[in-house]
Amino acid sequence: MDIDAKLYHRICVAETKDGKNFVNKIRSDMPQKQIDNRSIKLCLDIGCGPGNVTKIVADTLNCDMLVGVDIDPNMIAFAKQNYLAKNIAYVRQDFGAPWESLAPQVRQLEGRVDIVYSSHTLQWITRRDNVADNIRRLLAPGARAYLSYAGEPYYKDLVTNGFVRAIFWLLVWVGWLRSEPEHEQRAQYARAFEKGGLKIVSHERYDGSHK
Ligand SMILES: C[S@@+](CC[C@H](N)C(=O)[O-])C[C@H]1O[C@@H](n2cnc3c(N)ncnc32)[C@H](O)[C@@H]1O
Repeated sequence: MDIDAKLYHRICVAETKDGKNFVNKIRSDMPQKQIDNRSIKLCLDIGCGPGNVTKIVADTLNCDMLVGVDIDPNMIAFAKQNYLAKNIAYVRQDFGAPWESLAPQVRQLEGRVDIVYSSHTLQWITRRDNVADNIRRLLAPGARAYLSYAGEPYYKDLVTNGFVRAIFWLLVWVGWLRSEPEHEQRAQYARAFEKGGLKIVSHERYDGSHK
């Protein structure tokens, strides 16, 4: 992805709303005592972008420390400039990379992360087995990952014109365009997580926003 961090930050209204709703849902799953006692020691935000949602996550869950990772150096620079806090650090990292090649700042979190959070990101990462493996290695025993990702548009849902559909079909067939039905995209992640040794507690579909 190559997005202008400043521009994305200006226009990411829907993503911010989704992030707020999602983290409120996560919070409502937790005992109030856990929040009040600041017992969430370490969180990770995969694909932190410009950092605005990361800050909301850190504040809402009252995390002792939150590490935001993003593949894009401009996003990391923007986040450091605008959403840095004593309990937030940002690291440039392609989270689809294999464990052995992750940055030392990320690998040193192995087995210690209480909550892995991600929103509007995982659909971009095609190396799903690596994502699942990295999450499994980072989570503390018994800890949870809360992952929200968008289904990529499927060409059959987008295109009604027969001729254009045929061109899309051809591009998919030769492998120049990746397009799968949403249920297949979800199944892929489910398979990757299960193969990576993660137990799926719940896999829900949201229409538009987390309620
Ligand atoms: C749509 S933005 C979402 C940002 C933020 N989570 C939010 O909800 O506003 C997707 C982010 O994922 C990041 N990203 C894409 N591929 C990634 C990868 N392989 N590893 C880490 N971050 C990635 C992009 O750089 C971008 O900042």
